[in-house]
Amino acid sequence: MVDGIFISFEGGEGAGKTTQVKLLKKSLMAIGINVVDTREPGGSSEAEMVRELLVSGPLERWDPFSEAMLHFVARRSHINTLIKPALDRGDWVICDRFSDSTIAYQGFGQGVAHEKLEILRELSIEKFAPDMTFILDIPAETGLKRAALRKGAESRYEKMDIGMHQRLREGFLTIAKNDPKRIKIIDATQTIQSIAEKICKEISFNFNLPKLSSLP
Ligand code: TMP
Repeated sequence: MVDGIFISFEGGEGAGKTTQVKLLKKSLMAIGINVVDTREPGGSSEAEMVRELLVSGPLERWDPFSEAMLHFVARRSHINTLIKPALDRGDWVICDRFSDSTIAYQGFGQGVAHEKLEILRELSIEKFAPDMTFILDIPAETGLKRAALRKGAESRYEKMDIGMHQRLREGFLTIAKNDPKRIKIIDATQTIQSIAEKICKEISFNFNLPKLSSLP
């Protein structure tokens, strides 16, 4: 059995990741690929408990380094209980956020030193990384406006200042520049359909799936 493929979607608030995860899943399933879609923080029952601690409650609840540690605690559980078993079965896994979010949010956004995050990553999950990542890029103000329309109690990160959101956007672009083979930047101000088409094109090209097309 060939191992499955691991795809992640990244971006700031309100970039449309969740919609694109669902659309890509539909396109892949239409050509007979088994797909598991999941999210971070979360994805396993233990990691969902950690999510609750991170995305709700007062801003000052955690210092940024504690926050980074909690994201890796959740991620380790998610990998061991859901992602790796699915890939071992030969399924594809599409994840709404992964480690790049910790580098962008806790590192570039909240100021945790990059070297500290790298050590934490190595200790927690070793070299485990997506095969391909899409960063949906959108101006912070536009994304926050979109996110404000739909988020209820899970708004702890949106409440952080605009400077933090601008830094993390730049952070994602820097992360992409340093790893162009794995990471593709997509302009998230385009229509849902045209974003989906670009993603299908990249996946078809990189994983040799000529029949992949975006479905409405
Ligand atoms: P979501 O809104 O995309 O579901 O993500 C929940 C929040 O968690 C989002 O505001 C970004 C934040 N986050 C981090 O700060 N670091 C991380 O490593 C991850 C995975 C998410």
